Amino acid sequence: MSEIRDLLKASGYSEKAIGYYLNKVNVGELSDADAHAIYTGPCGDTMEVFLRIGDSVIKEAKFQAIGCAGAFSSGSALIEMIRGKTLEEAEGMGEEEIIEYLGGIPPAKVHCTCLSKRTLQRAIKQYKKKLQSG
Ligand code: FES
Repeated sequence: MSEIRDLLKASGYSEKAIGYYLNKVNVGELSDADAHAIYTGPCGDTMEVFLRIGDSVIKEAKFQAIGCAGAFSSGSALIEMIRGKTLEEAEGMGEEEIIEYLGGIPPAKVHCTCLSKRTLQRAIKQYKKKLQSG
């Protein structure tokens, strides 16, 4: 086991969360995204979310971040969780669900799940606005 893996484990990240972070799962961009948002949280970390949407369902999603292991692991998890979900379902996704899906992150990193949730909500909001304005 690598040193970084040991350190992450000792600080409270689950094996699943560590795998997401180290393998950069779902990290990337969608050049033909229908929805996109970039958001900087109160901690100073930034996330960017890309969504491909069809019939109000999220067909594909990716994210980028300038942030900590908590930001990356929760971004990876959230993207996986929202694929195939309706916009309403994705919008309603909360921190608790992300943490449960991850199987554990350090208590001091719980707020990091908020960064991914808020960035996603912004992307959906902007998409809906775009639809309304025709
Ligand atoms: Fe900012 Fe983790 S410390 S997202």
